[in-house]
Amino acid sequence: MSSPDIQAELPIGLFDSGVGGLTVLRALRTALPHENYVYLGDNARLPYGTKGPATIRRYAVQAAEMLMRCKIKLMVIACNTASAIALQVLRQTYPQIPVVGVVEPGAQAACSNSLSGYIAVIGTESTIRGGAYQKAIAEINPETRVLAKACPLFVPMAEEGLVSGRLPELVVEHYLNEIFGESVSCPKPDTLVLGCTHFPLLKETIALVVGPEVKIVDSANTTAQTVLSLFEQGHCLRNRSSRPGRVRYLTTDDVQPFVRVGGLFMGENLSEQDVERVDL
Ligand code: DGL
Repeated sequence: MSSPDIQAELPIGLFDSGVGGLTVLRALRTALPHENYVYLGDNARLPYGTKGPATIRRYAVQAAEMLMRCKIKLMVIACNTASAIALQVLRQTYPQIPVVGVVEPGAQAACSNSLSGYIAVIGTESTIRGGAYQKAIAEINPETRVLAKACPLFVPMAEEGLVSGRLPELVVEHYLNEIFGESVSCPKPDTLVLGCTHFPLLKETIALVVGPEVKIVDSANTTAQTVLSLFEQGHCLRNRSSRPGRVRYLTTDDVQPFVRVGGLFMGENLSEQDVERVDL
């Protein structure tokens, strides 16, 4: 087999602090079903979103090193917090492969969707504090007004599968009513970016609270489109197999909870045989 064929068969590598990035993997598998994938969840050290930048950078570098040892042809940082902090360092460290974060595609999609030029972004404490979305949106369109809000409780709720019903609704209202509530008299953003990989699980409840007039941008789908365009532009070779690609899952914590919660994020049952415990 010639070397381009080997390159084409190599997996796309993704990492996240846990199972949240599986929303990105799910979108990627829909967009590129014949590709092979290796997904690493650093569950033992979740959450990243409450940690400081130096710690997040160190964790991201270790996760990327593990994926590189698996011989990947493209890396997706399937975590908003790690993308916000470590995208540049990982691009510099691995110039030989494309490295894609989730922040730029989310910012791009938000700017294309917003008619009013007023966008709300929600994410973890670290993502919002670091201002990565605010900067990415300002680079695309400096006129855009961005309102950013950390919603840390959404992460454990999604992990618990607590995504619909009165309790999640109350929590979503707690965070978002000050932006989208009926008592808010000033104009409301017309676009809401889900700047955290866990938040797409709560999308229906969030949509219920913010109302149908607000467009919700999910960085999982927009990242998958970015990766697809890298293939279309020839920056990465497509796997030529006509069979569905294989997925290998790695986790830094126990396999069983990864299988249980991961299934919720993937929207399908995961098997323990497909998941391997690794140390970073
Ligand atoms: N994956 C993280 C993100 O997208 C959320 C979970 C965490 O805080 O580690 O920001």
